[in-house]
Amino acid sequence: MAVSFYNFHDLHHDSLKNTIKERLNNIIDNNAFVEGEFNTAFEKEFAAKQKAKHCLLVANGTDALEISLLAYCIGHGDKVGVPGITFYATAEAVLNVGATPVWVDVDPVAGLMCPQSVKRVHEKHGLKGIMPVHIYGLPCPMDELNSYCQSENIFIIEDAAQAQGTFYKNESPVGDSPNLVTFSFYPTKNLSAFGDAGCILTNDDDLAKKIVTIRNHGRGDETSMGRNSRCDHMQAAVLHAKLPEIDKFNNQRKMVAQYYFNALQGLPVKTLPEHFICLSSWHLYPVQCESSEVREKLMNFLREKEIGCTPFYEKTLSQEPALAQYEGEDKNARGFAGHTLCLPMNPFLSQKDVEEVAGAIKEFFS
Ligand SMILES: Cc1ncc(COP(=O)(O)O)c(C=O)c1O
Repeated sequence: MAVSFYNFHDLHHDSLKNTIKERLNNIIDNNAFVEGEFNTAFEKEFAAKQKAKHCLLVANGTDALEISLLAYCIGHGDKVGVPGITFYATAEAVLNVGATPVWVDVDPVAGLMCPQSVKRVHEKHGLKGIMPVHIYGLPCPMDELNSYCQSENIFIIEDAAQAQGTFYKNESPVGDSPNLVTFSFYPTKNLSAFGDAGCILTNDDDLAKKIVTIRNHGRGDETSMGRNSRCDHMQAAVLHAKLPEIDKFNNQRKMVAQYYFNALQGLPVKTLPEHFICLSSWHLYPVQCESSEVREKLMNFLREKEIGCTPFYEKTLSQEPALAQYEGEDKNARGFAGHTLCLPMNPFLSQKDVEEVAGAIKEFFS
């Protein structure tokens, strides 16, 4: 039985499609293509949902990171700590504003930015800021990171591109934070547009004002230029239509994660600790294999059975040729690179689907 990685068919059910089609027709009829009523409505409702004062929509998740760095006036000569393993957009944003990424190591269990490594890297390199990534939807140890960075006057931009639905702790969603928090709404994300979109959350009025200026060509501040990173009205209309269903779908992902946790016990792949089940958004469901050779063979075996799986991430950032010249720490990050296989994860998987995947993994190892 095939088990697909994503399931856009059930996500975009007829009733949602009808709502969106009606909205798009209205947008076309009213020539309201950029920054319209759904931008304002989404920003207000998403900010309230994530317990932040402001939500500012932008064109995509990479722009959200870059604009956040610009809002902190980061540029040439500044060093910013980036986790040793993540999607490369996090480092790309640092380079695009003219600053230098410095690798910060991750913990060996979950692959999240390690506060002790932040301290060591800061003492050696002198960091202006750090960009912890809530990778796969897992929450970084923000209490420790916040307390150290506040004492050293280091800013934090949380890359929550994969973390719509993540909680730092009980009742405290990602965004309920003293930091700038960025999201991507790329079509595969938990909350997704029909194209590119992103946003930045903040409680700081001055930073919010700066971000609004930067995303729209510097308008509102005669002394500076910005860029075009406005979010299309059509994408905002889609995001706003999807928002009421997102909690239900994220809870279904948590159930799927629990099924996996139970079904994979005793098999030679490492799952994440059980306490993450209610905290993570489960954007992806990663397991660790003992080596990259085993991961490759297992991936091919599952794919032959039409079980969707993806090897996020095959390399640390320092192993990317375009980033090899940058310094920092990434010993633990290297332990994850090439060893991780993401199994099918979407809100519509049943216990039977998960047992099918676990059964195939068991067959592979037997
Ligand atoms: C961790 C992380 N940061 C940043 C991004 C960039 O987002 P976007 O593709 O919307 O620019 C992504 C997208 O996949 C991501 O996973």
